[in-house]
Amino acid sequence: MPVRMNGHEVAKALYAELRETLKELPYTPALRVVRLGDDPASVAYTRLKDKRARELGLDSRLLALPSETSQEELLALIGELNADDAVDGILVQLPLPGHVDAQAVIEAIAPAKDVDGFHPFSVGRLWTDGRALLPCTPAGILRMLDHYGVELAGREAVIVGRSNIVGKPLAALLLARHATVTVAHSRTRDLPTVTRRAEVLVAAVGRPGFVTPEMVRPGAVLVDVGISRVGGKLVGDIDPRAHELSSAFTPVPGGVGPMTVAMLLANTVQAARWRRG
Ligand code: GUN
Repeated sequence: MPVRMNGHEVAKALYAELRETLKELPYTPALRVVRLGDDPASVAYTRLKDKRARELGLDSRLLALPSETSQEELLALIGELNADDAVDGILVQLPLPGHVDAQAVIEAIAPAKDVDGFHPFSVGRLWTDGRALLPCTPAGILRMLDHYGVELAGREAVIVGRSNIVGKPLAALLLARHATVTVAHSRTRDLPTVTRRAEVLVAAVGRPGFVTPEMVRPGAVLVDVGISRVGGKLVGDIDPRAHELSSAFTPVPGGVGPMTVAMLLANTVQAARWRRG
């Protein structure tokens, strides 16, 4: 029987560790979550991030701005948060409305407070010595694989999807752990041949059921980053019929999702400790 890798369980263990760390700190790490507009998914994610941060005992605030907020106004807010010594972590929820240059916003966040790990400084550190705030979803995936004892060194890992948020940073993390990493994407020729090589197969394309059983090597570890709503139900990028071929898999929901929020809070605590010494 394949192992069902439970993100709620792993997140719970991480929260317990963070609670112990927080007891030792003479200050309360502070997170600011910034959202523009009211895209339903972004509203849900930002509320959850703020709620979990408060539950952990962090000083968290959700700054919900109108979707018409100009780039200048947003950059001014980030400048204030950068300058505020009481603020440890800044997260601007993506995607941003079309009139805002997301990359300019990402680059405006002080690297020391970049709890998303999206700033070019963090990205550079990720690909070199790894001493950075790491993007939450990839870091959460690594944490989960470690929790379940999944061996990475020397193994064939295939990531389907090359986003800046998941695919690319996860490639860096798996490479640092000595996996042989392939990043496949929409232009990859003969994708099933590529994915069937994978001992660890990660799907991060946002297309429900995209990875079919024929694309899976028997015994592979399956990691599903996709979350799509289909007929009121949350479904992943991996067809659940592929689970029975695997040695271990992450369900949707309840797999990678809970880890993303947990890692954000871990990053906030880490940012506070690095910055405040
Ligand atoms: N949108 C989807 N995932 C993320 C994330 O990890 N961070 C931010 N800021 N926005 C997102």
